[in-house]
Amino acid sequence: GTVALGTPATHVQLQAVKTKTKEVTILYGSQTGNSQGLAKKAAKQLESKDFQVNISSMNDFKPNNLKKVQNLLIIASTHGEGDPPDNALTCYEFLHSKRAPKLAGLQFSVLALGDSSYEFFCQTGKDFDKRLEELGGTRLYPRFDCDVDFDEPAAEWLQGVLGSLGEAQSGNATQAHESALQSVESQYSRTKPFQAEILENINLNGRGSNKETRHLEISLEGSGLTYDPGDSLGIYPENDPALVDLLLEETRWNPEELVTVKQGDVRPLREALLSYYEITVLTKPLLQKAATLSACKELQDLTAEGNEEKLKAYLARRDLLDLIRDFTPWISSAQEFVTILRKIPARLYSIASSLSANPDEVHLTIGAVRYDAHGRGRNGVCSIQTAERLNPGDILKVYVQHNENFKLPQSPETPIIMIGPGTGVAPFRSFMQEREEIGATSKSWLFFGDQHFLTDFLYQIEWQKWLQNGTLTKLDVAFSRDTKQKVYVQHRMLEQSKELFEWLQEGAALYICGDEKHMAHDVHKTLLEIIEKEGVMSREQAVEYLANLQQQKRYQRDVY
Ligand code: 2AM
Repeated sequence: GTVALGTPATHVQLQAVKTKTKEVTILYGSQTGNSQGLAKKAAKQLESKDFQVNISSMNDFKPNNLKKVQNLLIIASTHGEGDPPDNALTCYEFLHSKRAPKLAGLQFSVLALGDSSYEFFCQTGKDFDKRLEELGGTRLYPRFDCDVDFDEPAAEWLQGVLGSLGEAQSGNATQAHESALQSVESQYSRTKPFQAEILENINLNGRGSNKETRHLEISLEGSGLTYDPGDSLGIYPENDPALVDLLLEETRWNPEELVTVKQGDVRPLREALLSYYEITVLTKPLLQKAATLSACKELQDLTAEGNEEKLKAYLARRDLLDLIRDFTPWISSAQEFVTILRKIPARLYSIASSLSANPDEVHLTIGAVRYDAHGRGRNGVCSIQTAERLNPGDILKVYVQHNENFKLPQSPETPIIMIGPGTGVAPFRSFMQEREEIGATSKSWLFFGDQHFLTDFLYQIEWQKWLQNGTLTKLDVAFSRDTKQKVYVQHRMLEQSKELFEWLQEGAALYICGDEKHMAHDVHKTLLEIIEKEGVMSREQAVEYLANLQQQKRYQRDVY
């Protein structure tokens, strides 16, 4: 949250310097909140150097106003198959269209966030960087592309940007502001997670289900951490000890050997592989570095130019143990080898509780991920740790990731439509708890789906309670494997297209949470169909209608 400035004197002082300093506009495109967090950090630092900062998400900024901007910083993440985040989409499309303004006076720099295990690494940032130059802008500092462990490169980028902007007077004026801010915010964050105690861990699915969905209750007591419905919880997981031991067996490295994981942080190898390094995902940069540590010709070939497709196929669903087994002999020490690994990234889960309904607690709904690939069973790191190795009383390292892209309407009188099959239902439990707590008076409608009514109706009793007490107005369910023909949430939406469109016309906000690639994509298509049919619109008009909803924050997605 923001905090009022200290004394009036401080305020006056601040204004006095502002008039002589440079303006910087920071625009962020953020899906899960990382870019947003970095943008806020950058804003704070720039303000403390007495820059005048305008910060906004891309969608909240009129792209034509870029003509008036002198210094622009863009911080943008990439998700899915190289796609811009939802809250950057309109701006992205506008800038890449013929209507884009000429930006000859603009100085800019781009910080791109991404994940090198995806093919289109940092694509959104790369696109903005290229496009701004095409439109006539000049780079005030080169673009940085950050992998999942983005803190250090992001800090380096910001230092570089500050240098290029020419550091203004160092400001005492804003220091009061900053310390005040710290006293209300929790001291715990992504870079300093809270050691939270597990209170409860149960399987929500009935016996005989194909699924295992854990309901986790975690204590935030003493952390000062707060969250709103729609926010996520970050968890730093631990790798599977059995997988770590297989790796150690295979390499014959000494588990007790001390390795330096970063400057000033020395740990026994086994411990480092358990909780510091990522061992379950292979990336192209990792294989390229590994090729220098192996005498295996096949690995040299695989990483050579021209073999990109082969390499991509190899990376899919393989892990470090495959790599170690497939490309012997290795010619490196344990220390050399671990230095090429990525740090294990935190996992984000949509919070399933409301803090006002559960003081000092946070609840999660976690689907256990298990599958076979390349002749071996594979486990999701965090979900299987939760399912198999986490008991009440145990400790997890957590932090709150605020997500301004998935928020209840400001007014409790605005109707809401929630579409959340499977674990996608999590934030809607949080929405309902919150609305019950504040006595919200508007209509609400939930579409839930899963495989079987008998075993997979997550939180069934709670939805029924909310239906009864009026917190939830309508509930439609789609159990896909109870009937010969599969039924999905979007089929239920279509069956009620008239009423659904009426709700939208009445100002309802619509939320989708869950699987992105299939579900969210198909639901989006269905929404377009419903709008076309019930609003008597062309496809183009329906697209525009949805884009408008999105712009008004009445169409929000939390998808993964
Ligand atoms: P299925 O696994 O039987 O195909 C939660 O996982 C629910 O979402 C399941 O009932 C699952 O059905 C369903 N689901 C799978 N693909 C979907 C899609 N493209 N659209 C909507 N629901 C989907």
